[in-house]
Amino acid sequence: MKSGTVLCRRADLKHSKCKSVSFGELPEKKRYFVIKSGQDVYGYINSCPHTGAPLNWLPDQFLDSEGQYIQCSLHGALFEKHTGLCIYGPCRGASLSPVAIRIEQDDTVVLD
Ligand code: FES
Repeated sequence: MKSGTVLCRRADLKHSKCKSVSFGELPEKKRYFVIKSGQDVYGYINSCPHTGAPLNWLPDQFLDSEGQYIQCSLHGALFEKHTGLCIYGPCRGASLSPVAIRIEQDDTVVLD
């Protein structure tokens, strides 16, 4: 995807703290998600390092029950929000693939 592609608006992260977005169709489909942690916003490819499956079952639902970690819905792996590092589960030590993002002046979150 090219720089400047809009992923979401910062306001989309207010309640769920996460926003999933995809482009294209299978098998070329590109899946991303954006997550807010404190005042910081991070972007990742929506693909678990364990099997490559999308992390979420439901749209925009990426967090564990305490909202502390990103949790894969398939086998429960837990990932740090700010690094994407897996700290628990079958892919412990592996990481989500980060996506460079930036926030524009109109509060849209875009690919950098
Ligand atoms: S697919 Fe994510 S933990 Fe297995």
